[in-house]
Formats: sequence, structure tokens, C-alpha cells
Amino acid sequence: MLPPGLPPFRMAPRGLLLGLLMASCFTVCLSHQSLGFALTNPEKSSTKEAEKKEAIAEEELESEVLEVFDPTHEWQALHPGQAVPAGSHVRLNLQTGAREVKLQSDDQFRNNLKGLKKGRRLNINTNTYTSQDLKSALAKFKEGADMESFKEDKERQAKVKQLFRPIEELKKDFAELNVVIETDMQIMVRLINKFNSSSSSLEEKIAALFDLEYYVHQMDNAQDLLSFGGLQVVINGLNSTEPLVKEYAAFVLGAAFSSNPKVQVEAIEGGALQKLLVILATEQPLAAKKKVLFALCSLLRHFPYAQQQFLKLGGLQVLRSLVQDKGTDVLAVRVVTLLYDLVTEKMFAEEEAELTRDMSPQKLQQYRQVHLLPSLQEQGWCEITARLLALPEHDAREKVLQTLGALLATCRDRYRQDLQLSQTLSSLQAEYQALAALELQEGEEDGYFRELLGSITSLLKELR
Ligand SMILES: *[C@@H]1O[C@H](CO)[C@@H](O)[C@H](O)[C@H]1NC(C)=O
Ligand SMILES: *[C@@H]1O[C@H](CO)[C@@H](O)[C@H](O)[C@H]1NC(C)=O
Repeated sequence: MLPPGLPPFRMAPRGLLLGLLMASCFTVCLSHQSLGFALTNPEKSSTKEAEKKEAIAEEELESEVLEVFDPTHEWQALHPGQAVPAGSHVRLNLQTGAREVKLQSDDQFRNNLKGLKKGRRLNINTNTYTSQDLKSALAKFKEGADMESFKEDKERQAKVKQLFRPIEELKKDFAELNVVIETDMQIMVRLINKFNSSSSSLEEKIAALFDLEYYVHQMDNAQDLLSFGGLQVVINGLNSTEPLVKEYAAFVLGAAFSSNPKVQVEAIEGGALQKLLVILATEQPLAAKKKVLFALCSLLRHFPYAQQQFLKLGGLQVLRSLVQDKGTDVLAVRVVTLLYDLVTEKMFAEEEAELTRDMSPQKLQQYRQVHLLPSLQEQGWCEITARLLALPEHDAREKVLQTLGALLATCRDRYRQDLQLSQTLSSLQAEYQALAALELQEGEEDGYFRELLGSITSLLKELR
């Protein structure tokens, strides 16, 4: 998916960083020169220059004569530049930020000493901390405050903001600890700055968005993106004159909106819906439109207020012209799937409200104000959907059949009068009878074609 000419930034640094973070731990390590390097400069580590530096750091480490610390059974502060015999226990004192060392067990220690005498490299057995531990620990000694209650989301965002502001100071703290790690938040800030900077090249901007997309899949990260204005920067990216920037901004937004109500709300307030619709309504490369349509789906799903706005802004007309464009069958199928999702979502919401009475009255009220089916009927979607049944691919037809079914209550009269539709359905029925028979011969009782045949037959029955 990476456009040609872009360096493959993503895999190497991500693999490296992930390897370290996914184990959800970071290591307080004396060889901070090499480890710190890997953690702070994930992007550069794929470049030759970085490899060279790393190699140099390794060499320096090999030749460096370390002063060896003599641990006891008590925790003692470790000073920069001191080495610890293998097997010692090392911890980061989260109150003071000092690294502390004590003896782990005599036997182990002696064994390790033997190792030392044989001239082996130090093998430092260290405690591990999650990056989350570190984040809150640092926040603690920045603020001297209790950061336990991250629970209230508002509060959390405010704290994240505080975390964000003194980021240069945080980095200094990290440096003083000889511990260098980039939190997801720092990475996102860096990527947003890269993208937002007028001195970044187009390729750098796209690469930044591409990397950012990975982070915002996590709900917390997507919400953190809000806290420092990063989401708005990406939304504004939809205004770019570069189709690639539009495309990758939409790629990030689609991931950030997905099942994330807070982000969805902010995006609506930030004008994302209008911008997405403008892109869909104007001449743009297919790839950009695909990602924008995906972002639109994520923004609308489970968010009746956005659905209302979508209808008000003429979203259905925009989708209609998209479907009627030549050569965009892929988009047409996605549009129909989106409509199917919206129709069924509203239906289920209303059913669920009746059955369980769990849903908040406001939410139900909002769903009730989404006048989707009447708008679909007025704007000719009964016919548009029926025409799409002529698409050649089975899965496209499957989606269209689903949608025809969902629109049945609204469109029944139109369908009945639609001769072309009944002809298409009849010829599809014949086609899938044959295919289902073959399927059955191959021993598949509940095959795919049989299922399609079932949908067609029941539609024909309904329309009789
Ligand atoms: C993005 O850049 C603009 C203009 O250079 C600046 O005003 C804005 O604060 C930047 N936003 C972020 C989140 O860095
Ligand atoms: C983005 O473009 C829309 C029109 O498409 C315009 O109304 C809006 O002011 C622009 N926003 C920014 C931040 O440039």
C-alpha cells in the first residue's frame, strides 16, 4: 500500500520498537548507549548512518572499562557509569528516579563472579517496567501529585496534557536516568510535528501519517491524540492539495474513529464530516476516495448524531453520485454496504430499546431523528440498489442482496414495479441453482451459493 518511491520506514523501526514494547517492558540497562539509541530513534535505526552509530556504540561498550559496583543485601543507589555484576537485582526507584542495586542470591553472585573473571561480558539481570509504569512514575515526580486516579476520562485528558507540555523536561528526566524510551504519546507528538511541519517533504508527511495510523488503533492513543490537538491537524490534512495527504489523513482518521465515541464527537466538531464529503464529491484518485469512504463509515457507525448531520449535509446525494460514476464498482459496493449497516443499526437500536430498555433515551431519540429510510426512498436508492445487482462478482451481489432485503419494507412497491429487477433476480436464480447443485455434488450442504440462492428465492417470493 505504500506509494512507490517511499522508503519502507515502517517495518524495521516498528519491529524494533514493538519487540521492546510488546513484551510490555523496558529494561533499565547499563548499555544505554545502544539500547537507548534503539528506543529513541526508531526511524533512523533503519538508515545506514544509524547502523554505523550503533556499531560504534557497541564498540565503545566493548572497550569501555566499567567500574564494577559491589552490591550488598540492601538496596543501594547506583551511580552513572557503574557496572553491576550479573545476577544483581536492579530496580528503578520510582520515588527518586535513582537506579538501585542489591545482591540477589549469594550463589548466583558467586557464579556470576566466576563468569566475570573469565572475562565474559556483563550479563545484567534487570527488573522490568511497563512503559505505562514509567509514564505515571514520571508524571508523579513532575507534579509530586497522586496520579492514581486516571479513571475519569476528562481528568485523564487534562493529565495527559500536562504530560505533554513539559515533554522536553521529561526527556531530560529520562536522560538523567540513563533511561530513554519513547512513550506512545511521545511518538505520536513526534509524528504529528513531522506531519505538521512545513519543512517536511511530502514523503516524510505520508510516512508520518502511515506510522501514526498504527498507533491510533488503540482507543487510548486515539484519545490522547485529541489532547494535544493532533486530531485536528490530521483532519486539516484532508484539506491538503496533495491527494496522497488526503488519502493518508483519511487512513489515520478511519482508524482513530473506529468504535471510539469521544474521537467521533471531536471529529464532528472539528469539521471532519464536511471535509470527507467534499473529497467524495470532487474529482480525486480512487485510492483517496476508498480511504475517505472508510473514514466516513467509521465516523457514522454507532453515532446517530453524525448520521443526522450526514443526511443534513446531503451525504446521500454525494454517495449517489459516487455510485453512479463509471468504473467505481468497488466504491459502489462499499457504499451499499454502508447503507445496509446504517439501516440495520438503526433497526437494531430501536428493537433493543424496546426489548431491554437499556439504551439511554437521548440515544434512542437521536436514532429516531435519523430519517434514513424515507430519505433513501426519496432519493431513488431503491432503484440504485436494484441496478447494482448486475455486478458480476458474487460477493458484490451478496452485499446488494442483503441491502435489498434491508430496504424491502421501504422499497417493496418500487421493487414490484421494477421489471428489470425481477428479470435480474430470475436469471440469478437460475445461475445460483446451477452453482448450488455443483456445490452439493462436492459435498457442501450449506454452501455459499446455496445461501445466495436462498436470499434470491425469498426476495422473489416477497415481490410476487
Ligand atoms: C501545526 O502547525 C501550525 C502552523 O505551523 C501551528 O500553529 C500549530 O500549533 C501546529 N499544531 C500542532 C498540534 O503542533
Ligand atoms: C478546508 O476546506 C474547506 C472547503 O473545502 C474550507 O471551508 C475550510 O476553511 C478549509 N479549512 C482549513 C483549515 O483550511
